[in-house]
Order: sequence, then structure tokens, then C-alpha cells
Amino acid sequence: MMSTAMTTFLATVTLLLAGNRHLTQAKTVVLFSPPHAANVRTYTNTGRALAALGHDVYVPVPDFMLKDNSVNVQGINVIRYGEYLGHFDDKIAAMAVDKFWRNQSMVLGDFTGFIKFWEDLATQLLSDKQLIAKFKDIKPDLFVLMKQPLLRDFVIFPYMLNVPFSCLCYYHDYVGQRVPISLSSSPMHLNGDFLEEGMTFIQRLKNSVVHLTLFFLHEYATSDKLVAKFAPHRPRISTKEIMSQAEISLVESDPIIDFARPQLPNTKFVGSTAVNLPEELKEPFKSFMEKSVNGVVVVTFGSSILEVPDYISFKMMSAFLKLKQNVIWRVKLQSPDPGKILTSSWVPQNDLLAQTNTKLFVSHCGLNGQYEAMYHAVPTLCLPFGNDMPYNAQRGVVKGFGLKADIREVTDIELLALMREMLENNKYKKNIQKASDLYKELYKRPVNETAFWLDHVMKYGGAYMRSTGQNMPMYQFLALDVLVFLAVVKVVFVLLVYKTCRCCCGLCCGKKRKSKRD
Ligand SMILES: *[C@@H]1O[C@H](CO)[C@@H](O)[C@H](O)[C@H]1NC(C)=O
Ligand SMILES: *[C@@H]1O[C@H](CO)[C@@H](O)[C@H](O)[C@H]1NC(C)=O
Repeated sequence: MMSTAMTTFLATVTLLLAGNRHLTQAKTVVLFSPPHAANVRTYTNTGRALAALGHDVYVPVPDFMLKDNSVNVQGINVIRYGEYLGHFDDKIAAMAVDKFWRNQSMVLGDFTGFIKFWEDLATQLLSDKQLIAKFKDIKPDLFVLMKQPLLRDFVIFPYMLNVPFSCLCYYHDYVGQRVPISLSSSPMHLNGDFLEEGMTFIQRLKNSVVHLTLFFLHEYATSDKLVAKFAPHRPRISTKEIMSQAEISLVESDPIIDFARPQLPNTKFVGSTAVNLPEELKEPFKSFMEKSVNGVVVVTFGSSILEVPDYISFKMMSAFLKLKQNVIWRVKLQSPDPGKILTSSWVPQNDLLAQTNTKLFVSHCGLNGQYEAMYHAVPTLCLPFGNDMPYNAQRGVVKGFGLKADIREVTDIELLALMREMLENNKYKKNIQKASDLYKELYKRPVNETAFWLDHVMKYGGAYMRSTGQNMPMYQFLALDVLVFLAVVKVVFVLLVYKTCRCCCGLCCGKKRKSKRD
């Protein structure tokens, strides 16, 4: 009797204590990325790591991804939304590749089109009453959002709900973070034109123009229109100003895959949260991998580009058939020789790259794929389409992780030669193996690191890491007021000296003239 009562009492105390701990520590976090599978995947990965620390994690996942089963939603609370978006990934892919296949380059109009595209998306999401009601209902302690000039309208969500937010993005936002930078030392994303030893004068000129364009985009392509419309109860400031209030900015980058870049203490480079530990291969990939005694080449152009024009597939198949290795290609296409080339519209990319039998990766060089290849030390042949891919491809070449080519122009013979060079010359494998070792030693599990910092700012806030430069108006940050003041002092000084001299001269000459006349 006694002992039963005691046990019950102890159990109650334990429960109460546990419950108490839960109450004081567990927070509710919403990780809200744009409705693009590559981004939602990194957010669900980070979400699981945060949940492992005991937090209540919610990730809004668009309807089409849940139908496609294209993201792993285990271990997190899913907020289903956005039937009105349709298949958003297909729209993004079309935007990226349509012009590319037509051999047209981007013009200024395309960029204003992009700006409008993302602003329309934000307007659509901010008008989603059900989604906002859900946010109000779960009462988040923190929002996690992407920090990118074109996506910054997302910050209106936390602003309207008066909730702090942090950023998790592949993009290091120098301008928004007020990092004092040099226009010519760091190659800018979106600019794939640089060399191993740095940049030539023309390249620095180009790079500076890209930097300045981004600066003006950041400073002037901003408005408080949507803030006024969707958060009328809050002070009317621009999205740019809201953005600068982030508790912390976590950047999915590092100097091993990318370059050394200046940063302030409230920016942390965490590596990639996209890379998962590999799982065992499923069929038919497992047996195909096992029977490929000469190794395998894995070919994918991401989840959205599953179809290529005939002239491309023809030359690629032709090159693949001449290889000693077998090929696994993610594409919607019948294989001409299924024993040699396995085609499938879905492949477990990370698990395939983790196999020691995988010798080469042929890829469009999206960021996540490039990270997976580096993590598993697989040399990569980049065939970039657009966006950040040409930049990613060039840094891969510069770092000796692989080679690149224009998929439209390369012939089947050249493609074969490029792949053979990378399969036979050991230097690519050596370089990427070193990068992989270094990365694993320094970044361990990036999702844990990311979860750590998010947890940290929920406990302590991020204010102590801020630089005063992040709180002042741009003209003060650029010291324009100081420079103008100094210029005025200089002008006044020069004028004074000039006037004094003239006065003295006048007196002397006057005297001389006077004395002459005398
Ligand atoms: C990452 O976090 C998980 C869950 O908290 C833990 O089990 C794992 O050991 C951590 N891994 C590393 C390398 O710190
Ligand atoms: C684009 O260029 C490639 C070769 O550079 C050519 O084979 C292809 O037909 C061109 N496509 C179009 C739509 O003009």
C-alpha cells in the first residue's frame, strides 16, 4: 500500500518536473521557406534537428509536395497550405530553363519579371487567411525565413504577428547585413567569371557592377506597400528595415566549397543543411550498383528538370554508351540499353553518391547537389543551366573538384572526353576527397549547428551580436555625412587660404603699384 502510494507520488513529482522543464524550455518554431522543394527539404532537415532539442516544430509544406511525396516530413508538424500555388516547382523550372533551351540570354526585363514573380507569390501567401489563422493558433516563438533580396516580403509574416525571426539561407546578404566589403575581393554569386588566383581588371569591373546592382536593388527595390497592406496595425517601415532585425543569419555556405568571405558576428556559416546521412539503397538501384563492376556515373539535373530536348538526350546517350562505367540517369526517357544505362524519373541521389562504387557525378550543379557530391567526395562534371549554377560550376572548376561544359554546345565526343578525363585522372578525386575530409572535420552535422544557433537566440536573443552599423541609416554607415562635412571643411579652408593669399598679394602689389606711381 505504502509503496504504491509512494510510487504514485514519485511518478507525479517526476511528471510535474518533466512538465515544468517542458514549459520553461520548449519553444514553438515555424520554419517557413518559399514553396520550392530544394528549400523545403533543408527546412525540414533543420526542423528535425530542432525537434531533437525538444522544441515544437512546424513547417508549412505546399500541397503539391505532399501529393508528390517529394519531401521527408517525419518528425515535424506539417502545415499543409497553398493548393492555389499549383505545381510551383514546375513554374520555377520553366522560368529557369525555357530561355536556356531556346539559346537566349537573360535581359533586364527578365529580372524585373523575377521581382514581380516573387512579389506576387508573397502577396498570395500573405492573403492566405487560413495559413495566418494557423500561425496565430500555434503562437510561434520564432520564425525561420530565407534571407534573400527577392524573398524578403516573407518577413511580413513575423512582423504582422509581432514574433522574432531568424534567417536560414544559402545567400550571404552583405548589403542587408552591413558587412564592410571590398567590391573586388569576393566573387559575387550570379557572376561565374573569375579565376583561381583572383580576378583580372575586367573581371573585377564586372564583379563590382554586380555588387553595385545588388546594392541598389537592396536599397531601392524595396517598399512598405505590402507591410502597410498586411500589417496595418504595426509601425509602417519597409521590408528592408524589418529584415535587418533578424536575430541571427545562418548561411548555408563555407570557405571549403565557396570562398573566404567577410562576415559580422550575427552571421554564421553553417555548411549545408541539405545533406543527410545516407540510407541503404533500394531496388532497382542496389542490384544495378552491385553488378556495375567498373563503377557508376550518376547523372541528374535536379528534381524539376526531367526532360531534355532530343538533340541533348541523343548526344548524352551516345557518350554514355561508350563509357566503361555504367550510368544511372534521372530522366523521363526510355533507356536504349537498360543493362548499361538505368533511367528513372526518381533516384535516391544522396544515397547513390554515398556509394564507393560511384565514380563521377554529372549534374546541373544546384547548390544542394554540389554539397552532396563534396560530402561524399565524388568529382562532378557541371552542366549548368542558369541562376546560381554557372557560379557553382565555376567554383567547382577553380577548386579542382571537376570540370564544366555548356550542355547545348558540347558534342558527344567532347562529353565523353571530359568524363574520361575525370574518371582516369586521379587529381579531381584527390581534391574533392580533401575537401570532404576538411568539411566533415569542421562542420560535423550542419543541421545540429543550425539548430544550436536557433535554440541559442531563443534563449538569449541576438542583440548582443549586432554591430552598430546594422542599426544606422545607410548614409551614416557609408559615412557620407562625415565625408560631406570633411569636404566642406576642406573647401572652406582652401577658400580661406586663397582669400588670405589674394588679400596679401593685393596689399603687396597695391603697395608696389603705389610705390611705382610715387
Ligand atoms: C546531432 O544531433 C542529434 C540529435 O540531437 C544527435 O543524436 C547526434 O549525435 C548529433 N550529431 C553530432 C555529430 O553532433
Ligand atoms: C541551340 O544551340 C545548339 C548548338 O549550340 C543547337 O544545336 C540547337 O539547335 C539550338 N536550339 C535552338 C532552339 O535554336
